[in-house]
Amino acid sequence: MKTIAVLTSGGDAPGMNAAIRAVVRTGIYKNLQVYGVIQGYQGLIENKFKIMDASSVGDIIHRGGTKLLTARSEEFRTPKGREKAYGNLVSHGVEGLVVIGGDGSFAGASYLAKMGIQVIGVPGTIDNDIPCTQSTIGFDTAINTVVEAINKIRDTATSHQRVWLVEVMGRHCGYIALESGLAGGAETVLVPEEPFCLENIVKKVRRGRERGKLHNIIVSAEGVGSAMDISKQLENTYGLKTKVTILGHIQRGGTPTAFDRILASRMGAEAVFNLLEGKSNRMVGLVDGQIKDFDIDFALRQTKGLDQKMYQLAGILSI
Ligand code: F6P
Repeated sequence: MKTIAVLTSGGDAPGMNAAIRAVVRTGIYKNLQVYGVIQGYQGLIENKFKIMDASSVGDIIHRGGTKLLTARSEEFRTPKGREKAYGNLVSHGVEGLVVIGGDGSFAGASYLAKMGIQVIGVPGTIDNDIPCTQSTIGFDTAINTVVEAINKIRDTATSHQRVWLVEVMGRHCGYIALESGLAGGAETVLVPEEPFCLENIVKKVRRGRERGKLHNIIVSAEGVGSAMDISKQLENTYGLKTKVTILGHIQRGGTPTAFDRILASRMGAEAVFNLLEGKSNRMVGLVDGQIKDFDIDFALRQTKGLDQKMYQLAGILSI
């Protein structure tokens, strides 16, 4: 193998830059020519290739976002789009591709692998919804951002003795809500994986009030539905007034934590080693502290269940 390429695709995540840096520098260390593809799969289709040298990834390890830019490419979902992308990879002599992104990006990686390009996926998404890895790149930074926000909201919630709904991202997955809720000491965590009952939430708030609790924080995953709607239901059906904060895209930005930088560095380097070992259609994942690799199609068929013990713990500690 002489030439590889790297791209980031889908929602950006803090730590993607550290992963790009690891791919580029490991590739150069192994005497490979490395291309960066600008704007993910869309850039593959539009032939946006850029030769990367060691200094092209200097001064980015601490930056959020992605230096290679990203996109959600509709065209790549079509066979015609994928043919164009494949043709451009071949014309640049690219034999191996590292795709940094979430499950949609991995589905694209699987297509390219079947067309004949060696592809390795690196899980980069704040949602932590990818099976075969305990953590995805960006998740740790995102939950730290949420915890910081909860701390601030709690100050004002306590001062005014208010009930607060904090809506967090995660698409169909409740990991951001669960872990930030646990770390932030939230009274209730609503996740799409578990059913919940508004009446019980109201009872819990009232029990807390009777014990002298001055605030009540409910962390609500976007996957359970709009926090604004939940707030309206709580007021209209139970007479419980709540304030709502939707954290939105601030969860995607910011300087990556040390954990995310280290994870990204390890995963990015391992992806290049996998390519050099002749592996394809694999993703790298963190399991028991080690970076391992798994079949992408196998991973895409799994559902990453919520950690049940952690979910129960969040309930126990917030009685
Ligand atoms: O997958 C990352 C994510 O931030 C999800 O948590 C969220 O649902 C989605 O992307 C938002 O996507 P967009 O930035 O395209 O609106």
